[in-house]
Amino acid sequence: MEEIKFKSLIVEEIEDGKFRRYIGEKSISELPNGDILIKVLYSSLNYKDALSAIGHKGITRKYPHTPGIDAGGVIVGSNSENFKEDDVVIVTGYDLGMNTSGGFGQFIRVPADWVVPLPKGINLKEAMIYGTAGFTAGLCVNAFLEKGIKPEDGKILVTGATGGVGSLAVSILAKLGYHVVASTGKLEKSEFLKKLGAKEIIDRTEVYDVSPKPLLPRKWIAAVDNVGGVTLSTVIRSMDYDGVVASVGLVESEKLNITVYPFILRGVSLVGIDSAQTKMPKRLKIWEHLATDWKISFEGLWREISLNNLSEEIDRILKGEQVGKVLVNLWI
Ligand SMILES: NC(=O)c1ccc[n+]([C@@H]2O[C@H](COP(=O)([O-])OP(=O)(O)OC[C@H]3O[C@@H](n4cnc5c(N)ncnc54)[C@H](OP(=O)(O)O)[C@@H]3O)[C@@H](O)[C@H]2O)c1
Repeated sequence: MEEIKFKSLIVEEIEDGKFRRYIGEKSISELPNGDILIKVLYSSLNYKDALSAIGHKGITRKYPHTPGIDAGGVIVGSNSENFKEDDVVIVTGYDLGMNTSGGFGQFIRVPADWVVPLPKGINLKEAMIYGTAGFTAGLCVNAFLEKGIKPEDGKILVTGATGGVGSLAVSILAKLGYHVVASTGKLEKSEFLKKLGAKEIIDRTEVYDVSPKPLLPRKWIAAVDNVGGVTLSTVIRSMDYDGVVASVGLVESEKLNITVYPFILRGVSLVGIDSAQTKMPKRLKIWEHLATDWKISFEGLWREISLNNLSEEIDRILKGEQVGKVLVNLWI
C-alpha cells in the first residue's frame, strides 16, 4: 500500500509570498500518520480551500500542501476498532486540508475520531454536495431551533446567499417552512435563489448601513451571515426582539463594529458557528438531520468537476463568483 502513487492538487511556495498550484503525484507514505486511510471519491470546494490554495498562512502554515477540507470515500486501511475496510465515510473540518493533506488528493490519512460514517438517507455524492457548507448551514438551523425560532415568528435573512453556505442555508430553511430572504450581490441569479425556496431576494447593498445608528428598523427574526464587517453590523442592528444571528463567515471583513444596544434593548443573540471543531455527538446529529428530515433536493444546486478544473474554480470562489456548490470527483 505504501508505494501507491496518487493524484493531488499540490500548492507550492515558489518564493516568499508567491505560490503555484498544479496536479501532481504523491505517495501514500507522504501522508501524515493516522488511524484511517481513505480512498477519496468526492470532495467539494469551500472558500477556506481557496485561501489555503493561495498561501493564506492563517489556514496553512507549511507548503507544499494539498487543500480540501471535505472528503468522502471508502476506507482502505484501518487501525481502529470502530472502522473497517470498505466502510463508506466522510471527513469534514478538523485539520483536514489545513495542515493535514486534504480532500483534493485521491487518498487521505486521518485520526479515527475525525471520521463520520456516511449517514443513512444520503449517498456519498450528496454528502459531499453538502460538505462543510451544508454541515455549517445545518449548524445554523440547529442554533435557530435551539432558540425556539418558528416559521411564524418572522423572516430569516441569509447573506452571501448564492455561495456554498448561503445556498444550502436557503434550501434547508425553506424546506423547513421558514420565510427566507436571500441577500445577494448577484441579482441576476434571482431565479436560482427562488428555485432553492427563497421567498424574497434583496440586493446586498440593502444590508449595508455605514451609519453609526446603534439600532435600525426591526426586520429579521434570525439570520445566517456569511459576510461579516458592515453587513454583519447591519444585520445585528436590524434584528427583531429575541432575534438570533448566526455568524459564519468573513468574505467582506473579519471586523465587527457595533454597540451593545441590540443585545440589551432587543435581546438579540449572536451565535458563533464553528464547523471545524464541532464535537462528535453534535456532528453526528446534524449529519443525521441533513440526511433525513432536513434533506433538500440537490437539483440545480451543484456542478461536478475534475481535479484538472479545480484551479479555475478556486479563482472563481476567491472573486465571490461561485453559485451553489462545486463537487470534485477525484477519479474523472
Ligand atoms: N464558521 C464556519 O464554520 C464556516 C464554515 C464554512 C464557511 N465559512 C465561511 O463562510 C463564508 C462563506 O463560505 P462559502 O464556502 O460559502 O463561500 P462562497 O461559496 O464563496 O460564498 C460566499 C458568498 O458571499 C458573497 N460575497 C462574496 N464577496 C462578498 C463581499 N465582498 N461582500 C459581500 N458579500 C460577498 C457572495 O454571494 P452573493 O453574490 O450571493 O452575495 C459569495 O458567493 C466564508 O467566509 C467562509 O470562510 C465558515
